[in-house]
Amino acid sequence: MILWIKYLVRKTVIAGNWKMHMTCADTKKFLDQFIPLIEKNKSDRNIIIAPPYTAISTFAEYSNFNYLNIASQNIHWEESGAFTAEISPEMLLEHKVKYAIVGHSEPRKYFSESDEQINKRAKSAQANGLTPIVCVGETLEQRERGEAERIISRQVEQGLEGTNPSDLIVAYEPIWAIGTGKTCEAQEANKICNLIRKLIGYDEVTIQYGGSVKPNNIDEIMSMNHIDGVLVGGASLDPKSFARIANYK
Ligand code: PGA
Repeated sequence: MILWIKYLVRKTVIAGNWKMHMTCADTKKFLDQFIPLIEKNKSDRNIIIAPPYTAISTFAEYSNFNYLNIASQNIHWEESGAFTAEISPEMLLEHKVKYAIVGHSEPRKYFSESDEQINKRAKSAQANGLTPIVCVGETLEQRERGEAERIISRQVEQGLEGTNPSDLIVAYEPIWAIGTGKTCEAQEANKICNLIRKLIGYDEVTIQYGGSVKPNNIDEIMSMNHIDGVLVGGASLDPKSFARIANYK
């Protein structure tokens, strides 16, 4: 598919995941520097940041919501209840949160999140008017054993079952590329993003790449016809780096 179709048909989404970083004071400082660096004429680009929960309300005060939106780093499937450390859709909506990251490799790895739980979280987001950013990706061992496509297919099939593809972002994040400085080769990432799009069977779905995205590789990554955006960890903590990523050429 030629490149211009990507821009005509699909949304470009540049997302930052702050993980367990940034206090409210850090958030104010970041946004004071970041907002003026974003090129206003690039309004076709949707920029999203997922701050920690404690900084969401500070973030909401600062964001103008035209091009800078808030994501949550998780979402629960129940409305309320005895679910210590979880967060409900209503709590997020109160702070104008529009997106929810689910299935990130860190909760998959450290808290044994299953595809079934991820699916419930994604469906909960959609049912409550939030767009889920569903992360999928293989480990280094799985890739070396030649299992990457099989693992990703399972994560897509089980994690996205019963979800609405027109209100969905999928992030392909090879686990070996997260926080390691090793980026997946752009052509290979493009191939996997194409596979994910085919599995979903909906051409307009937004597919991101994530894993060591930096100012020096963003232009090549975004030149790929099946990559509609990026999910950025480390480089989203620095206003200048993240602005360069958001202003990719
Ligand atoms: P990274 O993290 O950009 O620091 O590799 C990506 C992610 O975890 O989403």
